[in-house]
Amino acid sequence: MKTIFSGIQPSGTITLGNYIGAMKQFVELQNEYNCYFCIVDQHAITVPQDRLELRKNIRSLAALYLAVGIDPDKSTLFIQSEVPAHAQAGWMMQCVSYIGELERMTQFKDKSEGKDAVSAGLLTYPPLMAADILLYNTDLVPVGEDQKQHLELTRDLAERFNKKYNDIFTIPDVRIAKVGARVMSLQDPLKKMSKSDPNKKSFISLLDDPKQIEKKIKSAVTDSEGIVKYDKENKPGVSNLLSIYSILSGKPVAEIENVYEGKGYGDFKAGLAEVVIHTIKPIQDKYYELMESQELDDILDQGAEKARKVANKMVGKMENAIGLGRKRK
Ligand code: AQP
Repeated sequence: MKTIFSGIQPSGTITLGNYIGAMKQFVELQNEYNCYFCIVDQHAITVPQDRLELRKNIRSLAALYLAVGIDPDKSTLFIQSEVPAHAQAGWMMQCVSYIGELERMTQFKDKSEGKDAVSAGLLTYPPLMAADILLYNTDLVPVGEDQKQHLELTRDLAERFNKKYNDIFTIPDVRIAKVGARVMSLQDPLKKMSKSDPNKKSFISLLDDPKQIEKKIKSAVTDSEGIVKYDKENKPGVSNLLSIYSILSGKPVAEIENVYEGKGYGDFKAGLAEVVIHTIKPIQDKYYELMESQELDDILDQGAEKARKVANKMVGKMENAIGLGRKRK
């Protein structure tokens, strides 16, 4: 069985973007691959986080992974900071990274833009992400389109390490969903939907209640044409809503366009809200059940233990290859 690794930051509550671009694929892939799904809390602190909020988001993200259908008997679910090998390997990967290539990363540029104080961690986010992936002999990384550049850098760093020290890393491939790889903000359809967007109207979180969902979709930015038609260039807002509708309902875009032909955006948005609520409701039911249970912590404990075994082995190989410490068996 080939291996998959993917992580999500507990930097807010999962959005429809994270769900469609990443999580939804995970559920399907766990039947064919040996999967590691990680709550990358160390990545989340590259930007300021409130301590209590972060703790809440970590547990909540774990419950959401399970609520969408991640099966702990098939996949390993764990928290990054509970497996110290990530920080150890992250440091070693930083030492094979060049500042110039890190400064060229779009995410670093976007998140540091206009800020007076930017953490060094925001710059060194990609080598930590490379470490996350490479620790598990990962063959494939399913992510949304926004992470493609980081994945390319991961491959470069792995090849550089293999060439410089010893051929120990598997070079991972990236897997980007054919549709829904970039779900856009409801308030600015030229910007991707993000869970840490300060404008809460820009995203739908998996924990929004039906009223909030209806309100957010109702206020989603469209255009003044009143025609429900997919045209990404000229109608980015409507096209984004159509994509979400199509992915969640399983209906082709053309069929949805037909249903709403001659009707205004009001009907279309009400229909989309219904589809979103219908998708989210069973996830929320399972989520609230899990949040109350001991099962969640047991699964995370077992996941961390399993991950530690594999990751510690790779850290040993990395240290041996570089010449750190004393020779390990
Ligand atoms: N808008 C999106 N459309 C499709 N996929 C997306 N992903 C993120 N946004 C979209 C995918 O979700 C996974 C988890 O992402 P992450 O939490 O590691 O960080 P991110 O990519 O930076 O996501 P956010 O929501 O924008 O988080 P913040 O606001 O904290 O920066 C990844 O596979 C990502 O591609």
